[in-house]
Formats: sequence, C-alpha cells, structure tokens
Amino acid sequence: MAPVFHSKAYFAVILLLLAVLDFASGGKLLVIPMEGSHWLSMKPVLKQLRQNGHEIVVVAPDVNMHIKPSENIYSLKTYPVPFTNEEMDEDFRAFGKQAFEDLPFLVMVTKTIEQMRKTATFFLSSCTHLLYNQKLTMYLIQSKFDAVLLDPFWPCGQIVAEYLGIPSVFFLRGIPCSFEFEATQCPRPPSYVPRAFTRYSDHMTFAQRVKNMLFHLSESFLCSYVYSPYAYLASEFLQRDVTLTGLLSNGSVWLMREDSISSYPKPLMPNMIPIGGINCAAKEPLSQVCKSFYLFILSH
Ligand SMILES: *[C@@H]1O[C@H](CO)[C@@H](O)[C@H](O)[C@H]1NC(C)=O
Repeated sequence: MAPVFHSKAYFAVILLLLAVLDFASGGKLLVIPMEGSHWLSMKPVLKQLRQNGHEIVVVAPDVNMHIKPSENIYSLKTYPVPFTNEEMDEDFRAFGKQAFEDLPFLVMVTKTIEQMRKTATFFLSSCTHLLYNQKLTMYLIQSKFDAVLLDPFWPCGQIVAEYLGIPSVFFLRGIPCSFEFEATQCPRPPSYVPRAFTRYSDHMTFAQRVKNMLFHLSESFLCSYVYSPYAYLASEFLQRDVTLTGLLSNGSVWLMREDSISSYPKPLMPNMIPIGGINCAAKEPLSQVCKSFYLFILSH
C-alpha cells in the first residue's frame, strides 16, 4: 500500500510542478532599459525570454539611439521627452571620447564628474517624463506585470517597480558610484578591492591602497552629485521618504555582467550572480590583429 501511495504522491507533486512551470513560462515582463551599449547587451536576453514564452513590454523615451520596435520579441511603449536626438548624440559622443583619454588622476576625476553631471540631466529629465506621464503609468498599472527587468545604472526602473509593487531583476555591468555594493551591503575593503578607473589590481602597494581609498571617497561624492536627484524624484513621486540606496536595496536579483576574467575576484552577496559569459553570447573567431594583441597582452 505504502509504495502505491508514494507513487501517487510523487505523481501529484510532478503534476503540480508541471502546472507551476507552465504558469511560470507565460510571465509578463516589463523592461525599463538603459540606453546605449547597455541596451545592446540586454536585447539578446529578451530574445531568449521571448523564446521561452514570456510576454515582454519595453518602455523607452521616444528620443533614443538603439531602442527600436521589434515586434516578434517585445512591444515598445514610448513616451515623449523634451530633448532632441542631436543633443543626446553629441553628449554621448563627448562621454565616450573622454572615457578613453589618458589624463592625470585628478584631472580625470573632475572631468568625469563634470561629464557625468551633463549626461545625467538627460536621464533625469527622461525619468521625470516617464513617471509623470499619466497615460503611461495608467497603462503600466492595468497591465499587471509580474516583474521588471532593468539596468540600475538608470534607477528610474526601480522607482516604477516600487510604484507598481512588483519584484525587480537588475541586469548590469556596474554602477559608476558602486551603488551595487552599498545597496546590498556587500563588503568591499579598499585595501584589496580596486575601485573603478584606478587600474589597480587586487595586489596593491601601500601608496596604491591610499590612492584607492581616496578614489573610494571621491566615489561617494560623485554619487550624491549625480544620483541624489533620483532620491528627490522618487520621494516626491512615491510620496514617502526614499533614499537611492534604499531604493536599490529592494532589487531581488543582481545579474552582473562580469566575471573573474574581466575583473578581480571580490566578495559578492548571494543575490549577486556573475553572468560575464553572456558578453560572449555572440561570438566570432578572432581576427589576426586581435590574436596578436591578445598574445601581446599575455606576454606582458
Ligand atoms: C522596499 O520594500 C519594502 C517592502 O516592500 C518597502 O516597505 C520599502 O518602502 C521599499 N523601499 C523603498 C525605498 O521604496
């Protein structure tokens, strides 16, 4: 009798699992992407999610560089913003150019802050016009999404997630001020976790550690400068006191496009999942130039 009962119980469990899996395969996903290369990395993931049977809606400003309609993968909802393509293009170009300049440490820090402040005004404006677009927010509420996929580089998506009261999945390469570590309370001792732009490794001399510490402090300054407007915006929109760290700490999963090939090993929290391999999803054989360059790097 007992084995029969067991097999019946197993059968019931399997049926239940199948039912749940079937249910899970038809989720409704809201995507609030970040413009530029960030979007290019996210798009193949959406394609796969669509193939897995999920329904996807992407929300983006009507002025953008790469986010175009793609009916067989997602439906695109756009909202108007008060700037032009030319203005945004020019700013992005300046940002890209500056990132590759070889400048003295302090000059680089001040230039980076100035450029980030300029670029940030576009994104802040875009976020304001998303949140206060009543037709759009009405649509978002009525659509009853299961989750939001977003790049926390642009924290606007998380404000929407809070507003709709649904879980969010973060997909990111990093956040300039390293909010990902602050928001998750992930340990990150400056004595052996090199800060962005320092070009140090996890083995630093004493002088380098001191500089790394200084860079760490400048990061927090940069953060409040560039990102604090989002805390005001979110507090006003959600009608409660919100900090950016508090906002981002509510993300359910952090899918991080990095691994120990592209960055030095460091502590991660259990909900931070390195998925660096995704950068190689579209792979092609190396050209001869790349091969020589790669061998050059290896030998130095
Ligand atoms: C984070 O989520 C909790 C629980 O849902 C909520 O009470 C809190 O207000 C959220 N934090 C922010 C900053 O929205």
